[in-house]
Amino acid sequence: MQNNFMKIATTRDEALALDAQDPLAHARAQFKLPDNVTYLVGHSLGPPHSAALEKLNHCATDSWAKGLVGSWNSAGWFDLAAKLGGKLSGLIGAHPDEVMVTDTVSVNLFKLAASALPLTQGKRQICVDAEEFPTDQYIAEAFADLTGVACRRVKPGEDFDALSDGGIYIKSAVNYRSGERVDMKAYEAKAREADALLLWDLSHATGVINLDMKAAGAKLATGCTYKYLNGGPGAPSFLYAEKNLLPKLHTPLPGWMGHAAPFEFNGQYVPREDAARFASGTPPILSLSALEGALEAFDDIDMKALDAKAGALGDLCIARAEEIGLKVISPREASKRGGHVSLKVKNGYPVTRALHAQGFQSDFRSPDTIRFGFSPLYLRYVDVWDLMEALKEILDTKSWDAPEFHARSKVT
Ligand SMILES: Cc1ncc(COP(=O)(O)O)c(C=O)c1O
Repeated sequence: MQNNFMKIATTRDEALALDAQDPLAHARAQFKLPDNVTYLVGHSLGPPHSAALEKLNHCATDSWAKGLVGSWNSAGWFDLAAKLGGKLSGLIGAHPDEVMVTDTVSVNLFKLAASALPLTQGKRQICVDAEEFPTDQYIAEAFADLTGVACRRVKPGEDFDALSDGGIYIKSAVNYRSGERVDMKAYEAKAREADALLLWDLSHATGVINLDMKAAGAKLATGCTYKYLNGGPGAPSFLYAEKNLLPKLHTPLPGWMGHAAPFEFNGQYVPREDAARFASGTPPILSLSALEGALEAFDDIDMKALDAKAGALGDLCIARAEEIGLKVISPREASKRGGHVSLKVKNGYPVTRALHAQGFQSDFRSPDTIRFGFSPLYLRYVDVWDLMEALKEILDTKSWDAPEFHARSKVT
């Protein structure tokens, strides 16, 4: 989309001036962020929204501790996953019945691929980018092994060739490493020509760019809720299936919670009509309660403004990075980028640790990529300005070379 914030700050005062006129500035106060932390890891684990903590606390101490098993009815637990799917549908331009919150992205990729396979006109291949997030590659490979279809690792630039051969194609709307955003509509048009089915991974896109499944013609998707949606660690993912396709989609894991009438305890499986047919087992209610609160952050948010601000924060980062002489591996143009910017930095790991020591939390992707996630709900232009000043100082003084910054943590 077109970036409306045309001006890129060239001084700290200009960054502050952009913050003063930011239409999304009010959202920051709703998040519980520690003092002296600039949180640039919203593309990995979003911070807690105050309503998420309140709902979680209420669910545990009231609905669970006092309401006990009766809360499946009285607190609306039974319908919560489908209800949140409905709420989330508004963020991705889908119909409420087409979205369900359940399982993980890894599991949902498998369920969607298996349900799509019979609809691919006998084209027995599953494609995945050779540079796709690893879980997508592992699932594609395992799916191929199990079903006997071919697994095709697509090299950069060969996407449309692969699509024109039909079958299933797992594709991220925003690449986890480079931040590159793809033109979903163009991919869907190509897929239609060859009766291929695209299975979108929206993990790095949802809650940060203006997604529209209907406008794109997208049919199948899944994505994380613990990143830009701030659902909390291990929050379940969501799954989208277009409503005309839904009746033809049969989950390979038909658990009782996807049954049309689970409490009739019928031995014959009859799926629900909506996307909740993809539910398998009992939903994680505590996690869902946190997600319910977290989604309140988006109640009054214009997704176009959100998308534009993510682009503008990224533009500022890129402009400063280029001044410092760093290699930017994300697209220069905001309309071709998601919410994060990745820089190739020699000694990237200790540099990330040195930034962290100054309060700038970012992440590192081996072997040399530092990622900065620009969640527009709580980040300010001045945060990006200060981040890049700190990065310059760390590189100029080589303060990253202190022994404590070299020790690797398990999670980077
Ligand atoms: C693009 C992408 N897909 C999938 C996943 C993994 O999702 P899950 O842990 O829900 O299986 C991630 C996790 O970071 C991701 O970035």
